[in-house]
Amino acid sequence: MSQSPFRDDVLAGKTAFIAGGTSGINLGIAKRFAELGARVAVLGRNPEKAASAADEIGHDAIWRAADVRDYGAICEAMKSVRDEIGALDIVVSGAAGNFLAPVLGMSANAFKTVVDIDLLGTFNVFRGCHELLNPGASLIAITAGQAEQAMAMQAHACAAKAGINQLVRTLAIEWGPDVRVNGISPGPIADTEGMARLAPDESTRQQHYARIPMKRWGTCYEIAEAAVYLSTPAASYVTGAILDVDGGSSVGDASRTSPNKGLA
Ligand code: NAP
Ligand code: COA
Repeated sequence: MSQSPFRDDVLAGKTAFIAGGTSGINLGIAKRFAELGARVAVLGRNPEKAASAADEIGHDAIWRAADVRDYGAICEAMKSVRDEIGALDIVVSGAAGNFLAPVLGMSANAFKTVVDIDLLGTFNVFRGCHELLNPGASLIAITAGQAEQAMAMQAHACAAKAGINQLVRTLAIEWGPDVRVNGISPGPIADTEGMARLAPDESTRQQHYARIPMKRWGTCYEIAEAAVYLSTPAASYVTGAILDVDGGSSVGDASRTSPNKGLA
């Protein structure tokens, strides 16, 4: 693991709300924000899971339970977070649902479910938090490569994440200069629910590794460092960007390159 370039108080005095921050990549982001001094609140649907995530984060992290598809509930949760730990400087929208299914194997409700959690959920979180923000706030949507690269068995996620990327860009235009709005597009990340669902067996995992220029899956920590970057003055002129943190996956398929001999 390379050493972090960030000082351990780089987010001191900042308040961060992370929708979907109760497991996986988003929990990794919440932990890193807290380690670097931010006051952190995480939200998921399941209250026991959310409480346990807050315990794991430590640093007086708090939690809320609500469904991002429910605009009233998510607004109420974010307002109560603002009342408890202060106006928001960083908001991450990372809640998502996914499963492998061909279009003819998904009902209209199955398609709608993923679009509602991912895309409508991100609209709800960002629309609802606007009045709770401090000037200069950083909003980050967690998107995915499916937004740009069509994939079989992923029509719902492709449509939802493509919508998220355009929502990010639109909000960057509408809400600049007071608020910066960006996306992070992770590649395949080790030890996550997402990859357990999308690459459930060893042969699929081997195919994934081969295609990635970096020849490995990423870590939650590497995504968290990107989220820290977007939330510091180092990114003060960055808005409307989708930051690919994917080992080069979005650039092209590396499965036909010769084995890397390594540098001397
Ligand atoms: P995960 O562990 O399943 O995390 C999903 C989080 O969202 C949990 O906290 C979950 O908590 C919450 N959530 C789900 N539906 C919700 C809803 N309707 N309302 C509120 N909260 C909800 O997933 P992950 O694999 O780490 O993925 C996290 C993000 O990274 C997602 O946006 C995903 O699309 C993106 N991503 C992941 C990968 C990967 O390799 N894993 C790659 C690219 C992009 P509850 O279940 O308690 O609600
Ligand atoms: N294939 C096809 N359809 C599926 C499916 C699958 N593997 N899994 C669920 N569906 C369908 C259901 O049958 C239902 O459609 P129907 O009403 O026409 O029968 C629809 O999707 C909604 O399912 P439901 O279980 O009611 O949704 P939910 O809101 O309780 O849960 C999910 C949402 C399905 C996305 C669930 O997997 C989830 O909560 N995921 C969160 C964690 C996650 O996906 N993490 C990875 C993030 S990348």
